[in-house]
Amino acid sequence: MSIDSPRLNRRDFTKTTVLGCAALATGAVRATAAAPKRIRTGVIGCGSVSNAYLPVLTKSPFVEVVSLCDIRPDRARRQAETFKIAFHYPHIDRMLAGEPFDFLVNLTDMQEHEHLNRQALAAGKHVWSEKPIANSLRAGQGLLRLAREKNVRLWGAPITVQSPQFAFMARTLAQGALGRVAAAHANYGHEGPNWSSFFYEKGGGSMPDLAVYNLTTLTGLLGPAKRVTAMLSIVTPEREITDKGRIKVTEEDNAMVLLDHGKGVISHVQSGFNYFNPHGHEGRGEQRHTVSIVGSKGYLGLVGYDWEPLGVDLATQKQPQMERHATDAQGYIWQQGAALAAESLSTGLELLVTPEHALHVLEIITAARKSQETGKRVTLSSTFRWPVA
Ligand SMILES: NC(=O)c1ccc[n+]([C@@H]2O[C@H](COP(=O)([O-])OP(=O)(O)OC[C@H]3O[C@@H](n4cnc5c(N)ncnc54)[C@H](O)[C@@H]3O)[C@@H](O)[C@H]2O)c1
Repeated sequence: MSIDSPRLNRRDFTKTTVLGCAALATGAVRATAAAPKRIRTGVIGCGSVSNAYLPVLTKSPFVEVVSLCDIRPDRARRQAETFKIAFHYPHIDRMLAGEPFDFLVNLTDMQEHEHLNRQALAAGKHVWSEKPIANSLRAGQGLLRLAREKNVRLWGAPITVQSPQFAFMARTLAQGALGRVAAAHANYGHEGPNWSSFFYEKGGGSMPDLAVYNLTTLTGLLGPAKRVTAMLSIVTPEREITDKGRIKVTEEDNAMVLLDHGKGVISHVQSGFNYFNPHGHEGRGEQRHTVSIVGSKGYLGLVGYDWEPLGVDLATQKQPQMERHATDAQGYIWQQGAALAAESLSTGLELLVTPEHALHVLEIITAARKSQETGKRVTLSSTFRWPVA
């Protein structure tokens, strides 16, 4: 599959994706004469999030999961048994030298993504990476260059721009229903994971784990950011981690990030690992507006989290009573990114999620850290294709 494959338009995308999602949901192969090509897939990292990815991947008509890998071999073995995967390995070298595959899905610790993604791309594999794709913009751009040289694809989570609620908000903004857009706010937090220490160590932190969703959504809706100002802090300096005991927290667990999108539009993302939430990590329980955008003639509020949105409330000068829209998920689920990427490899479907957007968000995160260190506003250099939808 070439990286220059033609883009599908929005309508084709929705049609194809809805069909794909219906197939994913039912586990059925599409009712076409020829069965779709299944992309031979290896999954590295068999921890918590693999329990969300593997059920989707193993049901996708576009995926054949051929191998699993984890440096904790018991985890790879257990998931191989549960999901009936023939091969499992304790190291990426063994995985790459073992049963052949074309597409690596990287679900390892945040700090491990960059070098594993590089090794897989260098070996000619397409890559879907959990966030972040790399640890710095420069390294991420290097990975993208490598992917182009090797004629393979690279994508990264999250996929908030693929939801029908994102599409509704983008369309409403493009139609000018809000008048002159002025400001936006987004927030996402919970009490922090307790199963792995990497979330709290250098290269981890609440921004690449949680704020990344809101940053993707707001830059997707309002355009690439030009400048960043941030305040970050550590609220809980020590944490109790299962299997590890007490650890020191060295990356932010509390973040306030201000983005200047140009033309006077300013947004704010608030995120952290110390957010009491009566719904815990359960997306469906959250009914508040976690993303809101206001302009001179209207207001948009995303109901629930942007990774599992439940609808969009809109009020305008013409229609001041808040009305709820886009309540149908249309098959969208946050954990389907790698399956969509495989669908793209199989059919040529172009996704709305792009590596350039993921790298722009990564630059915002590193710029926010620089702003915290220096007390200064930081100018960004990266951008991405916008509007997204
Ligand atoms: N857990 C969630 O609900 C969730 C949701 C969305 C995204 N994510 C993202 O998914 C990624 C993984 O998170 P998690 O919660 O599953 O963590 P986890 O600690 O539960 O799992 C990570 C796994 O990767 C393995 N691993 C680490 N380095 C490796 C290497 N070099 N080679 C092979 N295996 C290696 C670890 O042994 C572990 O089993 C992170 O980027 C996280 O931000 C997690």
